[in-house]
Amino acid sequence: MIEIINKLRQDFDSRLNSVADPKQLEQIRIDFLGKKGSLQGLMKDLRNASAEEKPKLGKDINLLKQHVEQEINNKTLGSKSVGKPEDTFDTTLPGRKELTGTLHPITQVMEEITSIFFGLGFQVEEGPEIETDYYNFEALNIPKDHPARDMQDTFYIEDETVLRTHTSPVQIHVMENREPPLRIIAPGKVYRCDSDVSHTPMSHQIEGLMVDEGVSFSHLKGIMNIFLQEVFGKDTKIRFRPSFFPFTCPSAEVDIQCVMCSGKGCRVCSQTGWLEILGAGMVDPAVFKSVGYDSEKWTGFAFGLGIERIAMLKFGINDIRLFFENDLRFLKQFPAL
Ligand code: DAH
Repeated sequence: MIEIINKLRQDFDSRLNSVADPKQLEQIRIDFLGKKGSLQGLMKDLRNASAEEKPKLGKDINLLKQHVEQEINNKTLGSKSVGKPEDTFDTTLPGRKELTGTLHPITQVMEEITSIFFGLGFQVEEGPEIETDYYNFEALNIPKDHPARDMQDTFYIEDETVLRTHTSPVQIHVMENREPPLRIIAPGKVYRCDSDVSHTPMSHQIEGLMVDEGVSFSHLKGIMNIFLQEVFGKDTKIRFRPSFFPFTCPSAEVDIQCVMCSGKGCRVCSQTGWLEILGAGMVDPAVFKSVGYDSEKWTGFAFGLGIERIAMLKFGINDIRLFFENDLRFLKQFPAL
C-alpha cells in the first residue's frame, strides 16, 4: 500500500506540473479529493490493512491529502498562468470599509455660529488674510504705539504688510464699499505670534458689525444674548464688563456663566464662575470717520470672538493645539453635528 501512496503522490505532482488551465486543475482536484477520488479509495483500502500497519498508513494517507490540498490551493491563488482573477475572487471575504471624513470641529462650530447670525439677518463677508498696516491697525483707530503692533505679536511680511491679527479689518473693507444699513459677520483665519495651551499662531475668529440709524447698546446686548444662548443653551447667563478696544466706545467684554460649574467656581473659570467669551462695543466715531460714514447719522455695534475658545468650552477641550495636530483619534470624536 505504501507503494500505491507514493505512486499517487508522483502522479499528482506530475499532473499538477503540467496543468494549463483552471478546468484541468479542477479535474485534478476531483480525481484526488472528490468523493470517488483516489484518496477516498485509499481510505477504503485502509480498512483491510493489518492492525500494526494501520497507524503508519493512515498517517501517510493524511500527509498525502494535506500535500494535495496545499498544492492545489497554492496553484489556485499563486499562479497567474492558471485562471483569470475572477476565477480566484473570493466573494465571501468581508468588504473593505470606505473611510469618510467629517467636518473639522472648528468648521462645525464656525458653521453653527454663522447659521445663527444668518437667521438674525446678518450676511457673511470675507476679507484678505494678508493686510496692510492701514486696515489691520490704522483705520481701526489702533495708534502706532499700541502693543498689538509689537513684532512679538504680529507677523510682519513687510514694513506695512502683516498677516491680519484679527478679523476686524473686514469691517473697514465692508464699510468702504457699502452704505448703511448693514449687518455682517466675517469668519476667518487670524495670525499671532503665540503658542501655548490656549494660543496657536493661526486661529479663527468671527467678526460682527451692525450699522443703522438708532442702533444702540441694547441691540448689541439683545443679539449677544440670543447668540450665546443658542450656542451654550437657553439658560446661559450673560454679563457685560466694561473694557477697552480702540475701535469701539464704549467697549465691553462679554462673559457667560461657567459651563463647567454653572457659576459655582472651578478651575476652568478660575473660581470666578464666569468665562470671558468675546469683545464688543459701539463702533468708535473715529472708525466711521476713516470710512467716510457720518457718525451723527449712523451708529453701530461690533463684536469679535475666537472660534477655538468657543469650541474648547463646548467640547471640553483643554489644549487648543489638539485642533491642529490632525490626529485622527482626536478628529474622529467629532462626527458632524
Ligand atoms: N479684534 C479684537 C481681538 O482680536 C476682538 C474685538 C473686540 C472685535 C471688540 C470687535 C470688538 O469688533 O468690538 O481681540
